[in-house]
Amino acid sequence: MGGLFKDILGSSESLFKNESDVPLDFSFVPKPILYREKEQRAIAACIKPMFQDKSGRNIFIYGQPGVGKTAACRHLLREIEDETEEIVPIYINCWKHNTTYKIVLEVCDFMGFKFVQNKKTEELFRWIRQTLNKKAVVFVLDEADKLEDLDFLYMLLEDIARKSIVLITNYRDWINEIEERIKSRLMPEVIEFKPYDHNETKGILKQRMEYAFQPNVWGNDAFELIAKKAFEMQDIRAGLYLMKQAGLIAEDKSSRKIIIEHAQLALEKIKDFSIKSPSELAEDEQLILGLVKNNSGKKIGDLFRLYQQNGGKLVYKSFQRKIDKLQKSKFILVEKTAGGDEGNTTIIKSNAEKKLTEF
Ligand SMILES: Nc1ncnc2c1ncn2[C@@H]1O[C@H](COP(=O)(O)OP(=O)(O)OP(=O)(O)O)[C@@H](O)[C@H]1O
Ligand SMILES: [Mg+2]
Repeated sequence: MGGLFKDILGSSESLFKNESDVPLDFSFVPKPILYREKEQRAIAACIKPMFQDKSGRNIFIYGQPGVGKTAACRHLLREIEDETEEIVPIYINCWKHNTTYKIVLEVCDFMGFKFVQNKKTEELFRWIRQTLNKKAVVFVLDEADKLEDLDFLYMLLEDIARKSIVLITNYRDWINEIEERIKSRLMPEVIEFKPYDHNETKGILKQRMEYAFQPNVWGNDAFELIAKKAFEMQDIRAGLYLMKQAGLIAEDKSSRKIIIEHAQLALEKIKDFSIKSPSELAEDEQLILGLVKNNSGKKIGDLFRLYQQNGGKLVYKSFQRKIDKLQKSKFILVEKTAGGDEGNTTIIKSNAEKKLTEF
């Protein structure tokens, strides 16, 4: 922060604890992960056999956005790292690494293997297999539904001896739709992450408040308002976003406290909030999102026709599923209207968006 701004603020004091606000980043993993003890125990139980030279069990985790799936798993991986050298913890975000080749490169990078240039997927995987088979592995494949092919998963299942594969997704049905050769080998324990109740939401946001803000800067009303909104949206990320915005607004007004007016102003910004970055969406989803943006308020059938005219190849059923997905990640709004001239209709509207990484 420059000197001028410090002057305007009155002093160098910030409402935030650090100059940077890392604890409010979505990727920050707090300690402990609250209210997920049962889920974490269930996951740990699947991994436990690997501490006794056996193979672990596989796990399928599902639940809506912002309910702590990633945080809980990353936390567990860290514990494994602290606990033993014999189990290699590997975390892959399949949204970023959505093909077998990309994952293989990422795993090589993680394991410190540098000579990847001009090597084929098979060659690299052979190296991975040799190295990993000296130990045991926990593989977390986060956002697994974003995988464009499942060859990597198949190779893991077939060629790595002692492992637990953890698949994470928002979609419970994803596991039923994957190819049989993989499903039959996977046989996972299924763990659902349910949304937090109002009190849990408050507890999690309080914990983050203590990480991120100076003591006693939050007015109770302001905090309650934000926690309530996060609970209504069933998304901790929304709460973190609002807390950060409210803090910035308060600083902007040179206030020493974050009061309810600041929280209200922050709430106005939530309209611009979407959960994930659109640039990370698959091609089809991007096409649909683009069409919705330019044709907000159309009926789903009309939108489908537009989609086809623009080169979309999905059949209507799959198209509907994409719409459903985009809605769940809050990229678009879906309104169902009953009655009217044409009976029930589904209207698709665009939702102003904001990149996660922008704040
Ligand atoms: N139980 C918890 N304790 C502490 N922080 C939590 C908890 N649950 C969620 N959070 C925080 O909320 C944010 C969202 O959680 P996380 O990224 O784990 O969600 P997710 O379930 O993986 O969502 P998505 O499906 O969108 O990836 C993170 O910043 C995380 O640290
Ligand atoms: Mg996640």
